[in-house]
Amino acid sequence: MNPHLAELQAYPFERLATLKAGVVSPAHLAHIPLSIGEPKHAPPDFVLQVLRDSLAGLGQYPSTVGLPELRAACARWLERRFNLGANRVGLDAVLPVNGTREALFAFAQAVIDPTRRATADSPLVAMPNPFYQIYEGAALLAGAMPYFFETPTDNGFLPDLDAIPAAVWDRVQLLYLCSPGNPGGAVMSIDQLRRAIELADKHDFIIASDECYAELYADEANPPPSLLNAALAAGHANFERCVVFHSLSKRSSLPGLRSGFVAGDPSVLRDFLLYRTYHGCAMPVPTQLASIAAWNDDAHVRENRALYREKFARVLPILAECFDVSLPQGGFYLWPQVGRDDAEFTRELFAATNVTVVPGSYLSRGAAGAGRVRISLVASVDECVEAAHRIASFVKGRTP
Ligand SMILES: Cc1ncc(COP(=O)(O)O)c(C=O)c1O
Repeated sequence: MNPHLAELQAYPFERLATLKAGVVSPAHLAHIPLSIGEPKHAPPDFVLQVLRDSLAGLGQYPSTVGLPELRAACARWLERRFNLGANRVGLDAVLPVNGTREALFAFAQAVIDPTRRATADSPLVAMPNPFYQIYEGAALLAGAMPYFFETPTDNGFLPDLDAIPAAVWDRVQLLYLCSPGNPGGAVMSIDQLRRAIELADKHDFIIASDECYAELYADEANPPPSLLNAALAAGHANFERCVVFHSLSKRSSLPGLRSGFVAGDPSVLRDFLLYRTYHGCAMPVPTQLASIAAWNDDAHVRENRALYREKFARVLPILAECFDVSLPQGGFYLWPQVGRDDAEFTRELFAATNVTVVPGSYLSRGAAGAGRVRISLVASVDECVEAAHRIASFVKGRTP
């Protein structure tokens, strides 16, 4: 077997299931899972209708490159959402993917060249810590080593890329960024993204920017920018070295559709398409048609954002009684310090209140997430409010 398989760490949700195994939670309280980042808002009806109406499309093999109509819908959405300018994104700069998870994983397999080494050491894939664990597994299975950089509280949960030594950058072949970040919710500015591009030019690596939370943000007048904005600002008219990852999962509350796309440097995407052709991950035609409808509509996304804002507005004052919490710039997570061992807190919280959160140490390496938990505000407004009351009572030592 591939020896790198043995290097993979247990996934956070497996560890969470083990942590909770055998723990009896109060039967009189309904379970409220605030652990997985799986949106629970109703998926848009019009998208489901297109899916139902196009089921006959299952009678054909889809092509890996996807329908031109889908790639055009994604390109126009990028131009609209990030003000890139009309027709800035060509169809050769877009590829459909079955959600960003598989694409983030597959991308490293296509990009990493284990034979190209600056030194005798393995190539590096740089990534934030805490992180989305797929980045780590993708690096390991591609024959690279993960290099974790911190996103500390005192830097607003943002990385300090200039703190990474040049000798490390020389070994980096791929840099994962995540903005808005999971779990911290921090948004990288265009200047910070431009700095990443300068480093990529200097040290010859590719940037994979995970932007799957780009449509969920706090300030309606100030949406998070994309790496593509920074690329254009840096004079990379063809998005050289830059690839962004987008998804309908969070934007349109369609995590089960498994639909997203990657966009950016056409020369990188050409090789990624070759890889994907063999990997066999074409998107079914009905999914493509439903995705076109979803990317073409922004009204349902505004409603989605409003629901998350309502949840933050209702939940934050309750949790502020027991934690130092504030509104994140993007995403739907809270990431408070709990003042004690995070796994123990999570287990005892579940035992006392039937609310599930994720221990921060399960989402990070070393001490980066220790003493924190991730609370996903994915459930309904009422459930999130109820969960916040239960958490606050638990922290204050009362029985909910
Ligand atoms: C940071 C981050 N990236 C990617 C994903 C994968 O999302 P999907 O594969 O549904 O697009 C998630 C899901 O939770 C995530 O949190």
